Amino acid sequence: MIVSALDKKVALVTGAARGIGQAIAVELAADGADVALADVQTEWLEETAGLVRAQGRRAETYAMDVAVEASVEAAVAKMLEDFGRIDVLVNNAGITRDTLLMRMSEADWDAVLDINLKGAFLVTRAVVKPMMKQRSGVIVNIASVVGLMGNAGQANYTASKAGLIALTKTTARELGSRSIRVNAVAPGYIRTAMTEKLSDAARAAMLNLVPLRRPGEPEDVARVVSFLASDNAAYVNGQVLTVCGGMVM
Ligand SMILES: NC(=O)c1ccc[n+]([C@@H]2O[C@H](COP(=O)([O-])OP(=O)(O)OC[C@H]3O[C@@H](n4cnc5c(N)ncnc54)[C@H](O)[C@@H]3O)[C@@H](O)[C@H]2O)c1
Repeated sequence: MIVSALDKKVALVTGAARGIGQAIAVELAADGADVALADVQTEWLEETAGLVRAQGRRAETYAMDVAVEASVEAAVAKMLEDFGRIDVLVNNAGITRDTLLMRMSEADWDAVLDINLKGAFLVTRAVVKPMMKQRSGVIVNIASVVGLMGNAGQANYTASKAGLIALTKTTARELGSRSIRVNAVAPGYIRTAMTEKLSDAARAAMLNLVPLRRPGEPEDVARVVSFLASDNAAYVNGQVLTVCGGMVM
Protein backbone atom coordinates (compact mmCIF):
# COMPACT_ATOMS: atom_id res chain seq x y z
CA MET A 1 0.00 0.00 0.00
CA ILE A 2 1.29 3.47 -0.88
CA VAL A 3 1.05 5.86 2.11
CA SER A 4 0.68 9.53 1.12
CA ALA A 5 3.30 11.96 2.44
CA LEU A 6 0.77 13.79 4.65
CA ASP A 7 -1.47 10.87 5.57
CA LYS A 8 -3.44 11.51 8.83
CA LYS A 9 -2.03 15.04 9.11
CA VAL A 10 -4.21 18.09 9.79
CA ALA A 11 -3.16 21.31 8.07
CA LEU A 12 -4.27 24.91 8.63
CA VAL A 13 -3.94 27.26 5.65
CA THR A 14 -4.60 31.00 6.07
CA GLY A 15 -5.77 33.05 3.11
CA ALA A 16 -7.11 29.81 1.63
CA ALA A 17 -10.04 31.33 -0.30
CA ARG A 18 -8.17 31.85 -3.57
CA GLY A 19 -4.81 32.09 -5.31
CA ILE A 20 -1.74 30.49 -3.79
CA GLY A 21 -3.55 29.61 -0.53
CA GLN A 22 -6.24 27.70 -2.41
CA ALA A 23 -3.63 25.80 -4.44
CA ILE A 24 -1.72 24.94 -1.24
CA ALA A 25 -4.86 23.59 0.44
CA VAL A 26 -5.65 21.39 -2.57
CA GLU A 27 -2.05 20.12 -2.87
CA LEU A 28 -1.85 19.26 0.85
CA ALA A 29 -5.14 17.36 0.47
CA ALA A 30 -3.85 15.55 -2.62
CA ASP A 31 -0.88 14.48 -0.47
CA GLY A 32 -3.22 13.11 2.21
CA ALA A 33 -3.95 15.94 4.68
CA ASP A 34 -7.27 17.09 6.10
CA VAL A 35 -7.42 20.88 5.87
CA ALA A 36 -8.74 23.73 8.05
CA LEU A 37 -9.35 26.64 5.68
CA ALA A 38 -9.17 30.18 7.10
CA ASP A 39 -9.84 33.52 5.44
CA VAL A 40 -11.66 36.83 5.85
CA GLN A 41 -13.56 36.04 2.63
CA THR A 42 -15.64 33.23 4.08
CA GLU A 43 -18.04 32.93 1.15
CA TRP A 44 -15.13 32.20 -1.25
CA LEU A 45 -13.78 29.51 1.08
CA GLU A 46 -16.54 27.12 0.00
CA GLU A 47 -14.91 26.73 -3.43
CA THR A 48 -11.63 25.67 -1.81
CA ALA A 49 -13.50 23.34 0.55
CA GLY A 50 -15.14 21.65 -2.46
CA LEU A 51 -11.75 21.15 -4.13
CA VAL A 52 -10.25 19.64 -0.94
CA ARG A 53 -13.21 17.28 -0.51
CA ALA A 54 -12.86 16.24 -4.16
CA GLN A 55 -9.43 14.88 -3.13
CA GLY A 56 -11.24 12.66 -0.60
CA ARG A 57 -10.07 14.70 2.41
CA ARG A 58 -11.92 16.57 5.13
CA ALA A 59 -12.26 20.37 4.82
CA GLU A 60 -13.78 22.83 7.30
CA THR A 61 -13.97 26.60 6.82
CA TYR A 62 -13.28 29.32 9.40
CA ALA A 63 -13.69 33.09 9.43
CA MET A 64 -10.33 34.40 10.59
CA ASP A 65 -8.79 37.86 10.33
CA VAL A 66 -5.13 37.05 10.91
CA ALA A 67 -4.44 40.62 12.06
CA VAL A 68 -6.89 40.41 14.98
CA GLU A 69 -5.80 38.41 18.03
CA ALA A 70 -9.33 37.53 19.23
CA SER A 71 -10.33 36.33 15.74
CA VAL A 72 -7.23 34.12 15.47
CA GLU A 73 -7.61 32.65 18.96
CA ALA A 74 -11.32 31.87 18.46
CA ALA A 75 -10.82 30.24 15.06
CA VAL A 76 -7.86 28.11 16.20
CA ALA A 77 -9.81 26.96 19.29
CA LYS A 78 -12.68 25.86 17.03
CA MET A 79 -10.30 24.05 14.67
CA LEU A 80 -8.78 22.12 17.57
CA GLU A 81 -12.29 21.19 18.70
CA ASP A 82 -13.17 20.01 15.17
CA PHE A 83 -9.94 18.20 14.18
CA GLY A 84 -8.31 17.46 17.56
CA ARG A 85 -4.84 18.57 16.38
CA ILE A 86 -2.94 20.80 13.95
CA ASP A 87 0.19 19.29 12.40
CA VAL A 88 0.92 21.80 9.65
CA LEU A 89 0.46 25.58 9.59
CA VAL A 90 0.83 27.55 6.37
CA ASN A 91 0.92 31.31 6.99
CA ASN A 92 -0.18 32.43 3.53
CA ALA A 93 -2.64 35.33 4.05
CA GLY A 94 -1.17 38.53 2.65
CA ILE A 95 -2.01 41.81 0.93
CA THR A 96 -0.28 44.56 -1.03
CA ARG A 97 -0.84 48.35 -0.85
CA ASP A 98 1.78 49.46 -3.37
CA THR A 99 2.95 53.03 -3.82
CA LEU A 100 6.23 54.92 -3.66
CA LEU A 101 7.52 55.57 -0.14
CA MET A 102 7.04 59.34 -0.57
CA ARG A 103 3.33 58.79 -1.10
CA MET A 104 2.79 55.88 1.29
CA SER A 105 0.31 56.64 4.07
CA GLU A 106 0.64 55.37 7.61
CA ALA A 107 -2.56 53.39 6.99
CA ASP A 108 -0.98 51.66 3.94
CA TRP A 109 2.05 50.75 6.04
CA ASP A 110 0.03 49.50 9.02
CA ALA A 111 -2.45 47.43 6.98
CA VAL A 112 0.30 45.48 5.21
CA LEU A 113 2.47 44.97 8.30
CA ASP A 114 -0.55 43.98 10.40
CA ILE A 115 -1.74 41.28 8.00
CA ASN A 116 1.52 40.00 6.49
CA LEU A 117 3.75 40.06 9.58
CA LYS A 118 1.72 40.46 12.78
CA GLY A 119 -0.81 38.02 11.30
CA ALA A 120 1.83 35.30 10.94
CA PHE A 121 3.02 35.96 14.51
CA LEU A 122 -0.51 35.70 15.93
CA VAL A 123 -1.42 32.49 14.10
CA THR A 124 1.96 30.90 14.85
CA ARG A 125 1.61 31.71 18.56
CA ALA A 126 -1.89 30.22 18.66
CA VAL A 127 -0.84 27.01 16.89
CA VAL A 128 2.49 26.48 18.62
CA LYS A 129 0.86 25.64 21.96
CA PRO A 130 -0.82 22.45 20.68
CA MET A 131 2.21 21.62 18.50
CA MET A 132 4.50 21.81 21.55
CA LYS A 133 2.22 19.44 23.44
CA GLN A 134 2.29 17.05 20.45
CA ARG A 135 6.09 17.51 20.25
CA SER A 136 5.78 17.77 16.49
CA GLY A 137 4.67 20.22 13.85
CA VAL A 138 5.62 22.04 10.69
CA ILE A 139 5.20 25.70 9.85
CA VAL A 140 5.64 27.14 6.35
CA ASN A 141 5.57 30.92 5.95
CA ILE A 142 4.81 32.37 2.52
CA ALA A 143 7.29 35.21 2.13
CA SER A 144 8.38 36.70 -1.22
CA VAL A 145 11.53 37.20 -3.26
CA VAL A 146 11.06 40.94 -2.76
CA GLY A 147 11.67 40.36 0.96
CA LEU A 148 15.18 39.34 -0.12
CA MET A 149 15.85 41.84 -2.91
CA GLY A 150 13.63 44.88 -2.20
CA ASN A 151 11.26 46.38 -4.78
CA ALA A 152 10.52 50.01 -5.62
CA GLY A 153 6.93 50.86 -4.71
CA GLN A 154 6.65 48.18 -2.03
CA ALA A 155 8.31 49.58 1.12
CA ASN A 156 5.55 48.18 3.33
CA TYR A 157 5.27 44.80 1.57
CA THR A 158 9.04 44.16 1.28
CA ALA A 159 9.55 45.08 4.94
CA SER A 160 6.72 42.72 5.96
CA LYS A 161 8.22 39.83 3.96
CA ALA A 162 11.78 40.45 5.20
CA GLY A 163 10.32 40.49 8.72
CA LEU A 164 8.54 37.21 8.01
CA ILE A 165 11.85 35.66 6.96
CA ALA A 166 13.42 36.76 10.27
CA LEU A 167 10.38 35.43 12.15
CA THR A 168 10.85 32.12 10.33
CA LYS A 169 14.47 31.81 11.45
CA THR A 170 13.74 32.82 15.05
CA THR A 171 10.82 30.42 15.44
CA ALA A 172 12.93 27.65 13.85
CA ARG A 173 15.59 28.28 16.50
CA GLU A 174 13.07 28.47 19.37
CA LEU A 175 11.01 25.42 18.41
CA GLY A 176 13.56 22.99 16.99
CA SER A 177 14.07 21.25 20.34
CA ARG A 178 10.34 20.35 20.29
CA SER A 179 10.69 18.78 16.82
CA ILE A 180 8.81 21.65 15.20
CA ARG A 181 10.29 22.74 11.86
CA VAL A 182 9.79 26.22 10.41
CA ASN A 183 10.68 27.25 6.85
CA ALA A 184 9.74 30.00 4.42
CA VAL A 185 8.86 29.79 0.75
CA ALA A 186 9.63 32.94 -1.24
CA PRO A 187 7.63 33.00 -4.47
CA GLY A 188 8.60 35.23 -7.37
CA TYR A 189 6.03 36.44 -9.89
CA ILE A 190 3.05 34.08 -9.60
CA ARG A 191 -0.15 34.45 -11.63
CA THR A 192 -2.94 35.32 -9.12
CA ALA A 193 -5.44 38.11 -8.41
CA MET A 194 -2.66 39.88 -6.49
CA THR A 195 -0.46 40.22 -9.58
CA GLU A 196 -3.40 40.88 -11.94
CA LYS A 197 -3.42 44.38 -10.43
CA LEU A 198 0.04 45.13 -11.90
CA SER A 199 0.31 47.31 -15.01
CA ASP A 200 1.42 45.65 -18.27
CA ALA A 201 4.73 47.53 -17.99
CA ALA A 202 5.33 46.31 -14.43
CA ARG A 203 4.49 42.74 -15.46
CA ALA A 204 6.86 42.87 -18.45
CA ALA A 205 9.62 44.28 -16.23
CA MET A 206 9.14 41.41 -13.75
CA LEU A 207 9.18 38.77 -16.49
CA ASN A 208 12.38 40.23 -17.86
CA LEU A 209 14.08 39.25 -14.59
CA VAL A 210 12.94 35.61 -14.84
CA PRO A 211 15.35 33.29 -16.71
CA LEU A 212 12.48 30.83 -17.33
CA ARG A 213 10.58 33.71 -19.04
CA ARG A 214 7.18 32.77 -17.65
CA PRO A 215 5.20 33.64 -14.54
CA GLY A 216 4.80 30.89 -11.96
CA GLU A 217 1.44 29.23 -11.27
CA PRO A 218 0.00 28.84 -7.74
CA GLU A 219 0.58 25.07 -8.09
CA ASP A 220 4.33 25.66 -8.59
CA VAL A 221 4.40 27.16 -5.08
CA ALA A 222 1.96 24.64 -3.59
CA ARG A 223 4.08 21.61 -4.52
CA VAL A 224 7.10 23.06 -2.72
CA VAL A 225 5.02 23.90 0.36
CA SER A 226 3.69 20.34 0.49
CA PHE A 227 7.25 18.98 0.23
CA LEU A 228 8.38 21.17 3.14
CA ALA A 229 5.32 20.10 5.16
CA SER A 230 6.17 16.42 4.70
CA ASP A 231 8.76 14.18 6.35
CA ASN A 232 10.61 14.21 3.01
CA ALA A 233 11.93 17.56 4.32
CA ALA A 234 12.54 16.20 7.84
CA TYR A 235 16.01 17.81 8.10
CA VAL A 236 15.14 21.10 6.36
CA ASN A 237 14.71 23.82 9.00
CA GLY A 238 14.95 27.61 9.13
CA GLN A 239 15.41 27.90 5.36
CA VAL A 240 14.05 30.22 2.71
CA LEU A 241 13.25 28.35 -0.48
CA THR A 242 12.69 30.61 -3.49
CA VAL A 243 10.17 29.51 -6.13
CA CYS A 244 10.79 32.15 -8.74
CA GLY A 245 12.01 30.65 -12.00
CA GLY A 246 15.53 31.84 -11.18
CA MET A 247 14.61 35.51 -10.57
CA VAL A 248 16.77 35.41 -7.42
CA MET A 249 19.86 33.21 -7.27
N1 LIG B 1 1.14 36.35 -6.40
C1 LIG B 1 2.44 36.52 -6.28
O1 LIG B 1 3.13 36.79 -7.28
C2 LIG B 1 3.11 36.38 -4.95
C3 LIG B 1 4.51 36.48 -4.94
C4 LIG B 1 5.16 36.35 -3.72
C5 LIG B 1 4.46 36.13 -2.56
N2 LIG B 1 3.10 36.06 -2.61
C6 LIG B 1 2.40 35.84 -1.33
O2 LIG B 1 1.57 34.71 -1.43
C7 LIG B 1 0.46 34.85 -0.54
C8 LIG B 1 -0.82 34.63 -1.32
O3 LIG B 1 -0.89 35.58 -2.37
P1 LIG B 1 -1.90 35.47 -3.59
O4 LIG B 1 -1.18 35.97 -4.79
O5 LIG B 1 -2.55 34.14 -3.62
O6 LIG B 1 -2.95 36.62 -3.16
P2 LIG B 1 -4.54 36.68 -3.23
O7 LIG B 1 -4.87 38.11 -3.03
O8 LIG B 1 -5.04 35.98 -4.45
O9 LIG B 1 -4.99 35.82 -1.95
C9 LIG B 1 -4.74 36.25 -0.64
C10 LIG B 1 -5.79 35.67 0.28
O10 LIG B 1 -5.53 36.16 1.61
C11 LIG B 1 -6.77 36.55 2.18
N3 LIG B 1 -6.59 37.56 3.21
C12 LIG B 1 -6.30 38.88 3.06
N4 LIG B 1 -6.28 39.50 4.23
C13 LIG B 1 -6.55 38.56 5.18
C14 LIG B 1 -6.68 38.61 6.59
N5 LIG B 1 -6.54 39.75 7.28
N6 LIG B 1 -6.96 37.45 7.26
C15 LIG B 1 -7.13 36.29 6.56
N7 LIG B 1 -7.04 36.20 5.23
C16 LIG B 1 -6.75 37.33 4.54
C17 LIG B 1 -7.57 37.08 1.00
O11 LIG B 1 -8.97 37.12 1.29
C18 LIG B 1 -7.21 36.09 -0.09
O12 LIG B 1 -8.06 34.97 -0.08
C19 LIG B 1 0.58 36.25 0.06
O13 LIG B 1 1.21 36.19 1.33
C20 LIG B 1 1.48 36.97 -0.92
O14 LIG B 1 2.18 38.03 -0.32
C21 LIG B 1 2.41 36.18 -3.78
